[in-house]
Amino acid sequence: MQEPEVLDKYREAGRILAEVRGEAIKKVKVGVKLLDVAESVERSIQQKGGAVAFPTNISLNEEAAHATPSEADASIFSRDLVKLDIGVHIDGYIADTAITIDLGNNKKLVEASNSALERAIDVVHADVDTAAISAVIEQTITDYGFHPVVNLTGHGLERYTQHAPPPIHNRRTQSGTKLKEGQVIAIEPFSSNGNGRVYETGKAEIFSLVKEKPVRSPEARAILKEIETYKSLPFARRWLKGRVDLGLKQLEAAGIIHAYPVLKDRGLVSQAEDTLIVTTDGSEVITRI
Ligand code: CO
Repeated sequence: MQEPEVLDKYREAGRILAEVRGEAIKKVKVGVKLLDVAESVERSIQQKGGAVAFPTNISLNEEAAHATPSEADASIFSRDLVKLDIGVHIDGYIADTAITIDLGNNKKLVEASNSALERAIDVVHADVDTAAISAVIEQTITDYGFHPVVNLTGHGLERYTQHAPPPIHNRRTQSGTKLKEGQVIAIEPFSSNGNGRVYETGKAEIFSLVKEKPVRSPEARAILKEIETYKSLPFARRWLKGRVDLGLKQLEAAGIIHAYPVLKDRGLVSQAEDTLIVTTDGSEVITRI
């Protein structure tokens, strides 16, 4: 059971996040720059008194996750299937949400992940096994005629840790973990009209610190100093000052930071995600107003 003050921090993070998501939905339009949306999300989180938990993920079409614009990114939205995955933390307590904005013609695919999320939330309560949640997600998405993305999962949330146990799989599993009252989890079904399996591709724009170790290179040291403030939370290449490509490579090679390349499926992918606090008879969804 979490302390009440801790749960209040989660709730505050969730409230800010829900507001920012509402604003962002209105901004995503054909012709708008991805970078403008990403930066406005991150600015708005801070203006409302939150901290950015991870870089604004804007993943298009076959991309499922981990895409964020680079510093000089000039790309604009066209008739894309847009996944916006955003996070806020208060004192390390994170709320995580994602939505799909359909600028093209993929209504059913979006409905599949939305309705999988709704049904999954309906089965949550203290003592439920995560396997029951996973079964509902897979069933709902396959009923729509699509595949759940099997190698992406929902997750627990812990202080400064965005992907904490238990994993909440998007496909049936033999067994899972029993949820406890007061536990904070994010459920995130992904629905694909491809094969439902993502692979890593492209240049990573998102990183996180895994293990501090001494480094000689001045480029790498400068970055280490700068990223201290993010603790173990992900950060974007574009957040860093100056030329950082070499330093980031050195830190990655030394096992000090982890790079998150874009995750792509072989078909279009939609996503829906909310964060909730598990209660004895259900849950409190903190990322909705
Ligand atoms: Co998440």
